[in-house]
Amino acid sequence: MNIYRLALIGFGNVGQGLAQILVERGDWLAERFGAHFQIVAISDLLKGSCHHPDGLPIPDLLAAVRENDSVSAVAAPHRVWDSLRTINESNADIVIEISYTDLETGEPALTHIRAALQAGKHVVTTNKGPTALHFPELLALARNNSVKIGVEGTVMSGTPALRVGMEMLVGANVKRVEGILNGTTNYILTQMESGADYADALAEAQQKGYAEADPSGDVEGHDAAGKVVILANLLMDLPLTMEDVSCEGITRLTADDVSTATEAGERWKLIGAVEKTATGFTASVKPQRIPHSHPLASIGGATNAITYTTELLGDVTLVGPGAGRVETGYALLEDMLAIHRNRMA
Ligand code: HSE
Repeated sequence: MNIYRLALIGFGNVGQGLAQILVERGDWLAERFGAHFQIVAISDLLKGSCHHPDGLPIPDLLAAVRENDSVSAVAAPHRVWDSLRTINESNADIVIEISYTDLETGEPALTHIRAALQAGKHVVTTNKGPTALHFPELLALARNNSVKIGVEGTVMSGTPALRVGMEMLVGANVKRVEGILNGTTNYILTQMESGADYADALAEAQQKGYAEADPSGDVEGHDAAGKVVILANLLMDLPLTMEDVSCEGITRLTADDVSTATEAGERWKLIGAVEKTATGFTASVKPQRIPHSHPLASIGGATNAITYTTELLGDVTLVGPGAGRVETGYALLEDMLAIHRNRMA
């Protein structure tokens, strides 16, 4: 049995989603893949810290957060370590970086990821900040330290949008990607079509664990723009930065705009796209009014979709969850299993 010790930097929706998967599927993962994933440390700015080198009881961690919004009372020898101390001094071999996303500086996640890679620990993250802003540097750092960095969950949660593009379609030459890349805004727009108020729909998206800690990044389009940058950098080899994406969110759409579109047999969707051109590229995130016959029109709720336009295959479309606790927690598991497969190879 291969044992992997995990340190979770952040224990919000995504971390709890992963913990739930490990409680429900841990035995099956061990039996099916010969991999046992053990949480040895958690460090969260608001929910506290704990480290036990022999592993923490995951059901107790989940109960502690549910009941007290804190893990500080879970029995463990170390309970005051901050994130950097947890990364450097815990016996984790995979650091799961799931602190909040900052698309302007990438911090504090960027510092966490650099520290973990420098300490020779694998990193798995769903954090869009460091991935959109500094992925080439982080990949080089991982290679120099003979460890892996997994970022599958930064785009479309557990739906393998990056792997499909990077591993399966790379030889077909992806010229353009277009999609619904944010679950929160798609959920809000879908609810508004059924008559819901914008603020109520946003509150529901927060309650369901779709929205970022600061949901302004979702509704103003920056979250989708970060995903456009990640797709362009990782799949299309384009040196895109956040500044290159013209970005407009859904905050200016009114209930009237939504009902007028409905009456005309159309729908508003927040669409992100990047395309190679003869002189470089174009990239945008903007709300678009599309007819029901458009391939993206039927994608409702927190579901996302991406169409890859390739030279050899034409269009390939992938549809699946775009946000959510377990859905994004599953993205972490995909990358953890990739680390395991690599070790086995
Ligand atoms: N806030 C993001 C969304 C989470 O709604 O799509 C997944 O990246």
